[in-house]
Amino acid sequence: NHGDAVVPQVNTGLFINPLKIPKTVSGNTSLVTQNTSEALLSASKVNVLGYGEGILGPTIRVKKGDNVNINLLNKLSDHSNIHWHGLKIPADMDGHPDQMVMSNESFNYKFSVNQQAGLNWYHPHVHKSTAVQVTQGLAGLFIVESDEEKSLALPSGEFEVPLIIQDKRIASDGTIKYSPTMMEIMSGYLGENILVNGTHKPFLDVSTRFYRFRILNGSSARIYNLSLSNSAEFYVIGSDGGILPQPEKVKNVILGSGERLDILVDFSTMKVGEVVSLKSETFFTMGNAQGNQPFDILAFNIKRQENNTFKLPSTLIPVPKLPSTSIKRVFTLKMDMMSSDGMHKINGKVFKSGRIDETVTLGSTEIWEFDNSTGDEAHPMHIHGVMFQVVARMGGRNVILPHEKGWKDTVLVAPGEKVQVAMTFEISGKFVFHCHNLEHEDDGMMLNFEVK
Ligand code: C2O
Ligand code: CU
Repeated sequence: NHGDAVVPQVNTGLFINPLKIPKTVSGNTSLVTQNTSEALLSASKVNVLGYGEGILGPTIRVKKGDNVNINLLNKLSDHSNIHWHGLKIPADMDGHPDQMVMSNESFNYKFSVNQQAGLNWYHPHVHKSTAVQVTQGLAGLFIVESDEEKSLALPSGEFEVPLIIQDKRIASDGTIKYSPTMMEIMSGYLGENILVNGTHKPFLDVSTRFYRFRILNGSSARIYNLSLSNSAEFYVIGSDGGILPQPEKVKNVILGSGERLDILVDFSTMKVGEVVSLKSETFFTMGNAQGNQPFDILAFNIKRQENNTFKLPSTLIPVPKLPSTSIKRVFTLKMDMMSSDGMHKINGKVFKSGRIDETVTLGSTEIWEFDNSTGDEAHPMHIHGVMFQVVARMGGRNVILPHEKGWKDTVLVAPGEKVQVAMTFEISGKFVFHCHNLEHEDDGMMLNFEVK
């Protein structure tokens, strides 16, 4: 750790605000990036950025096979764009940092969704301004459904709840403050206020039954170690790229920026009148972006008795292993922030627009190894245009974690670890891969690759 870094403490207190749920729209919609307002810490509204009224965008819900047509009108004075994080779509629709939508211009994102059911998300990808735009409010969920998923009869409707977890630093005038110091650029910018779906100190009334939570760590840098305050076990049923082969029973999951989690919580094991919270526990392997205290994120008020009719399936959706015989090469990527200029690099390079750093053959299967064995900060590494499988973690935690047993697009590489991921490059064109700690990304920890 950067031992002398001042880690801000999370504000604690009573959970008094009903959890807001973003509205749901179809894949034929329009989004307008704009200055808008939202009541954050108090009832009085403050300036934020949004894709409509208020902070965060609507949840876009589509079915596998759907054609999407989304118009983005950029009413900000700065340029912006949308990256569809997790969607396997043509490169010219991906929201590469070279594809900007200028102020007062618009762009039509058109693509078809041909991937399995899962929780994806969207956010701006403006080099050097991604962190500020996301932190000020620009982010939303993109859920893909499928018939295969439907047949699992998972909790749905009011029992399927999206949770976008973000930390924000809020200034005395009530506005979101984004002004990282040099030290915060090194380790990541942490906010003192934990918001869920833009709600500060949120609670949710629940019944004694199974609920499905679709969780996004939409924070700039903060890493959470999610658990329940009564130490109850819960079930991980999916991660970034969709459903796992089987439910994984866990007590906690460490989630880095950009990662998603699909979990089932069985409140029938708890009693009406109890309050149980989703919390983040302390852990000491991740550098400064983990913070240094445990805190509650969301309070569940167990309010209603209900007969629990849901039966947890023993198997879910198979995830075929990529055949190891087809691996073309192992490409090593060294995380590097120890150089004299202090900038965040991958293989000694900072991001440069237009420079192709790596070329990959269309249709080939490769292993990429993220090597953070000499580092002292964690890096959630994200690759555009693919879903990958985590095939090995060496050093550090030395294990493939329960939520890494399905398709992923972002993997948390702790200090001292080398993590290998395998993937087949099925889409041609120019993409980026980068650290999803947004301070690191904006500082240049991002490279271009071309599939051809
Ligand atoms: Cu969610 Cu390239 O990012
Ligand atoms: Cu990083």
